[in-house]
Amino acid sequence: MPKLQNLRKYWKLGVKNFNTQYFDINSANHLVAKEGNYQYDLMNIVKKYGTPLEIVFPFILEERVDELIDLFNSYVKIYRYPAKFFYHYPMKVNQNKEFILPLVTEGANLETGSANELKLVKKMWSTGSLNNKIKVICNGPKTKEYLDLIGELKTKNLDIIPIIEDLNELAYLKSYRGNVGIRLSVDVKVSSHWNHKVDRYGLTEKEISRLGKIKNLKILHYHIGSQIELLKDILRPVRKAMEVYLKLKQINPSLDTLDIGGGMPIPYDRKFRYSIDSLIENLIKFLKEFCEKNQIAPPNIVCEWGRYVVSPAQVTIYKVLCEKDIQQGKNRKWYVVDGSFMNDLLDTWALHQKWHVVPVNYLNSKNKTQSWLAGMTCDADDKYTGQGSYISLPRLDDLEKDDSLYLAIFDTGAYQDALASHHCLLSSPVKLLAQNGEIKIIRRRETLDDVAKTFGW
Ligand SMILES: Cc1ncc(COP(=O)(O)O)c(C=O)c1O
Repeated sequence: MPKLQNLRKYWKLGVKNFNTQYFDINSANHLVAKEGNYQYDLMNIVKKYGTPLEIVFPFILEERVDELIDLFNSYVKIYRYPAKFFYHYPMKVNQNKEFILPLVTEGANLETGSANELKLVKKMWSTGSLNNKIKVICNGPKTKEYLDLIGELKTKNLDIIPIIEDLNELAYLKSYRGNVGIRLSVDVKVSSHWNHKVDRYGLTEKEISRLGKIKNLKILHYHIGSQIELLKDILRPVRKAMEVYLKLKQINPSLDTLDIGGGMPIPYDRKFRYSIDSLIENLIKFLKEFCEKNQIAPPNIVCEWGRYVVSPAQVTIYKVLCEKDIQQGKNRKWYVVDGSFMNDLLDTWALHQKWHVVPVNYLNSKNKTQSWLAGMTCDADDKYTGQGSYISLPRLDDLEKDDSLYLAIFDTGAYQDALASHHCLLSSPVKLLAQNGEIKIIRRRETLDDVAKTFGW
């Protein structure tokens, strides 16, 4: 019988570097999630609610945002950095109420990317659900509706700052009374899927320099990309941005904040090799030295790391329905699952994202099959092939009679919900909340009628 310690190691569970410190194996060889001294046997949840399913763990959100804010604040203290850190959660990463409320409760400020996201903020603000100290940064292309809403919330005393992305926004915001920010398109190439040669967002250094004084300028913002693999690629844009900050500060003394956007990666496939500690320490050290050398007050620091905070707070579980030979690979099998990668985990298709896949049961199985996973739509692209490698999973012919294998896909809390679709008119999975030892259905599984209605039937 493989020892528990070996099994944990094999499935990479309980490892902080893999964000699996919340998961373990119990005596029944099932996958469990641990919330304090409580633990959830995921197999019991599967039996009760069926698959495909998604489970949200608010305690993971709370722990991650607390750790992030504490870490920044401790380096601010260690380096006697004479300004403040503010975490803004970018709502686009996951707009589910069950994600946003725990984050805000733990002290996250918000970042919006559209008028609709800001409408959710308005709802929370007008019902008195938000602390009056909360700050909201508004990014994204600004429609008139979006700009009007910003103006309206400003008059309702919300600390809200629009970030100018384009010159037309600047013109509209001329009559705006509150603070504003401006987005710099940083001319640095970094290693990230989203760092495009041509960035349609923000203004170049040249364009910004032509603007002269900007009324009530408070924030210089940039966003270089998501899932940035190298530490130097996070730090190089900071230097470039600070060079612009320095020039802007001379004619805009109200400028006091640098917003470095998103970019902190999570270890989907261990391509990146730096810790969050080293990143924050290097960032604060650099800003302090740069400002001392150039004799300006160090800026407040804003980060908008969403993926890093929320990805590990959701797992998606599929049942393996059957297996099928992979024609090109000897002894390699397709495991056909009862959900869809194209619909529920769209980044599999869009970015060839690598996922950490762990069985929910039979974690002690000795014999493995080298497999790829196939989804339920009739689309040849509905598959997960582990970026060209195989996924080693328990053999189906070793299962007990009439039993099934279930697979957990980790880190599905970022972006997948907002991108989810209905290819082949499949229903979205049931979504559960696991909190304080209890399980609650937060979105019931869509019925055929629900999906048909979406398409006018
Ligand atoms: C302006 C802005 N801020 C923050 C983010 C979130 O970045 P990340 O995916 O690294 O959390 C994004 C993502 O696209 C973004 O566009």
